[in-house]
Amino acid sequence: MADRDGRDDSKKKPLTSISGRPIAQNENIQTAGKRGPATLQDTWYLEKLAHFDREVIPERRMHAKGSGAFGTFTVTKDITHWTKANIFSEVGKKTEVFVRFSTVAGERGAADAERDIRGFAMKYYTEEGNWDLVGNNTPVFFFRDPMLFPDLNHAVKRDPRTNMRSAQNNWDFWSALPEALHQVTITMGDRGIPKSFRHMDGFGSHTYSFINAKNERVWVKFTLKTQQGIEFLTDAEAAAVVANDRESNQRDLFESIEQGKFPRWTMSVQIMTEEQAAKHPDNPFDLTKVWYHDQYPLHEVGVLELNRNPENYFQDVEQAAFNPANSVPGIGYSPDRMLQGRLFSYGDAQRYRLGVNHYQIPVNRSKVDTNHFHRDGAMRMDGNFGGSVHYSPNSYGMYKDQNALTEPAYDGGGPVDHYDYREDDDNYYEQSGKLFALMKADEKQRLFENTARNMQGTTLLVQKRHIRHCYLADPSYGEGVALALGLSISEVDMKDTYGARG
Ligand code: HEM
Repeated sequence: MADRDGRDDSKKKPLTSISGRPIAQNENIQTAGKRGPATLQDTWYLEKLAHFDREVIPERRMHAKGSGAFGTFTVTKDITHWTKANIFSEVGKKTEVFVRFSTVAGERGAADAERDIRGFAMKYYTEEGNWDLVGNNTPVFFFRDPMLFPDLNHAVKRDPRTNMRSAQNNWDFWSALPEALHQVTITMGDRGIPKSFRHMDGFGSHTYSFINAKNERVWVKFTLKTQQGIEFLTDAEAAAVVANDRESNQRDLFESIEQGKFPRWTMSVQIMTEEQAAKHPDNPFDLTKVWYHDQYPLHEVGVLELNRNPENYFQDVEQAAFNPANSVPGIGYSPDRMLQGRLFSYGDAQRYRLGVNHYQIPVNRSKVDTNHFHRDGAMRMDGNFGGSVHYSPNSYGMYKDQNALTEPAYDGGGPVDHYDYREDDDNYYEQSGKLFALMKADEKQRLFENTARNMQGTTLLVQKRHIRHCYLADPSYGEGVALALGLSISEVDMKDTYGARG
């Protein structure tokens, strides 16, 4: 690979076309006469522009601005009684990983130090294929039915008419959903602008499942605690950072790794048995809720370390394709509706963004052989399985499905229908209230003020709707936000839902 620092002999190499032809002229196009028009036979010039014209690929629909690095996951505690996943098979075992951090709403050129959720996407290259844990820096989400995801995207991105981000669209949508308050409280609080990607925790967020060697299932949630400590920026600090540096988080991650200051996170799991799940007061698969640590303690599993910057950003970071559907034996899905929605959406987005053969791009490629009957497609570059049999069933014994890996069945709980989640679980405010109660006085004050600043430009109806949610979580939360917005709590009618889907 060519290297500008003279680590190889790049400086002696000739400039060539993509077919390998040495190029005679790279600064003067060919013209008919000294001051005449260009010829059509300057094929190097045509190739150069044609390639340039196609250098852009679609950015990710969400999480477009991101930073990535390679690293290692090391098992520190035995959890083989819960999962047979090979990655966890013994203490001390190391697995290569690739991680991409991101903001959610901004485009590829957005500033890093913005108030937003952060993506925390991990790809573990295990001996049983890639396991992708595509999480965020928050343990919950704005809602729990994937039908709403395109609407969230529209509400937080640009307004179709003004082409500007719109606080009204954003808060109209959030405040219409009482279940969003938990995630909104985290986003408007101190964790809404992490000082850097190194200074935040990561969460798998969904409930997943572990299957052990006896084919027994437990439900599991993943947490990655930063060993750098949690640090955040206030709105004012972030504004000063953005004024000078739009790539503050990319810079921090890249430079830390270059300097050998490798960031680390401790991975832990919370476990819920199927019996506990059946008795759990809330829906254990509800992505707007956490499992309380005193009931479901954190069990340490291992350490994630990032220690190598990609040599080329586009190749490894922009073309990375994380997909919650990428799981391994011993780690399964759950009936969390949001997870179920994501199982389709990511691969579908990547087939569009990168192409049907995106899994062959080096950063996405499994470290183990993949054996299947998928063939052809644009940009096929892995030999396409040569002349081997390309259909199944066949008489050659290729390739055998591994029936022993079938997961234990579970009861879906009734007839097929469009069930309203709200009828199953309308406990919207308990966890937001508890989160608020845990905050120190200065944290609460920042929460009120961040919320009020963020809501500038929203209608009175939307403001009252949000204040009501806050009040129902904790009266002093509602009062504080009302005051910061220049309103009195007595102006908000707690019996009026103001159109929220409660
Ligand atoms: C990126 C869909 C919920 C975390 C994306 C992308 C899509 C998507 C289409 C772009 C994928 C690509 O082009 O490679 C959805 C849908 C959701 C959902 C339909 C809900 C139904 C979530 C949740 C989390 C999450 C709950 C975290 C817990 C991420 C992250 C990325 C991402 C981290 C960026 C991955 C990367 O760095 O490449 N999402 N998402 N999403 N999503 Fe989601």
